[in-house]
Amino acid sequence: MSGAAAPGRLIIRDLDQLATPRGSGAPLRGPALGDVEVLERAYMLVDGGRIAAVGRMDELAPLDGDVEEVDGRGRCAVPGLVDCHTHACFGGHRVDEFALRAAGASYEELHAAGGGILSTVRATREAGEDGLREAVRRHHGWMLRAGTTTFESKSGYGLDRDTELASLRAIAEEGGIPTWLGAHAVPPEFDDADAYLDFALAEVLPDAARIAEAADVFLERGAFDAAQARRYLEACRAAGLALRLHGDQFSEAGAIPLALDLGARSVDHLEATGDQGVRALARSDVVGVMLPASALFVDRPMPPARRLIDAGAAVALATDFNPGSAFCESLPLVSSLAATQLHMAPGEALTAMTVNAAHVLGRAERKGRIAVGYDADIVLLDAPDWRYLAYHLGGPVVAETIVGGVPSRLG
Ligand code: NIG
Ligand code: FE
Repeated sequence: MSGAAAPGRLIIRDLDQLATPRGSGAPLRGPALGDVEVLERAYMLVDGGRIAAVGRMDELAPLDGDVEEVDGRGRCAVPGLVDCHTHACFGGHRVDEFALRAAGASYEELHAAGGGILSTVRATREAGEDGLREAVRRHHGWMLRAGTTTFESKSGYGLDRDTELASLRAIAEEGGIPTWLGAHAVPPEFDDADAYLDFALAEVLPDAARIAEAADVFLERGAFDAAQARRYLEACRAAGLALRLHGDQFSEAGAIPLALDLGARSVDHLEATGDQGVRALARSDVVGVMLPASALFVDRPMPPARRLIDAGAAVALATDFNPGSAFCESLPLVSSLAATQLHMAPGEALTAMTVNAAHVLGRAERKGRIAVGYDADIVLLDAPDWRYLAYHLGGPVVAETIVGGVPSRLG
């Protein structure tokens, strides 16, 4: 991650509150999902980039030696936010398409007409590796300002060998966790999805698997069907990648049964998921990643969050940051949408974008909690109560983002 200096000892003192998911292990579900431990008048001691101690100010013993101090008055500390689903590596923009959608065009119609994802593929191929590096860096800067300390990003706007590999490298070089979204759309130089997958699995997967940690597929009418998604994911699993799916965004096309069958880490979107899908996901260890900013941005129904949570499903929240369906990097805004649209308690939303999101990325041992031994990834909120994270709709709620014990660049 980008830090300005080597992490030494740091104390954040006189915090109004320090709030962190309480339950142990991951993913958290059921009543543990919303169980947040809140310390009033708190401090946190950081040493070598890790959390060394947490407690109340009236228990703080005198400190010897050099310790940098951060004044926490008027601030609340929560774990650094973890964005487990973004598409941050792309060229160009889709503001024209946004205006067309505002005038009534639908996202799926634009996609079918060769716009949508494929228009970003054209711009991404033209950007070159330096341009992609610069784009990810810029987007990462926006995320840091919004309190995101760990981000995943997918490729998927190159869809040729060179641009897919350049995308994965650009994401990794900026400190992101790369996911190979080799099956995002069928690029124009291929006649059909199977011919494209023949190419992608033979020519791109071997090198992509050396850079990426996971593979993802867009399982949807107009993209890849369940048989094609299975073929792609089985090959990716054999190459050592963890599995993710974009599923049930516009239609139920078999994503949840496939995710369960293959032991995927997550199935993401779920706007179209019905009762059977809810029940199946709730009985499994696959995390349901909900993306309410995307549902809002393309005017889709919200995912059935309450039914999933009440049935016992493990859920996470993410932005889906991308130029077409969710031009939004703000997890605080997602937290507000979770409270107002998904009817999640602020504590459920906090866990869903910290511990549970870290679990989706295979990092729950070190990220997503304020606890001794965890990475000192912290957000300081400009607020007297940690629930302002959801309450301050669209406001400047993030005062400071600390990554690995180092206050991060917010410029
Ligand atoms: O998660 N739906 C598939 N992929 C992205 C959108 C990509 C785009 O519109 O550029 C998503 O919504
Ligand atoms: Fe997505």
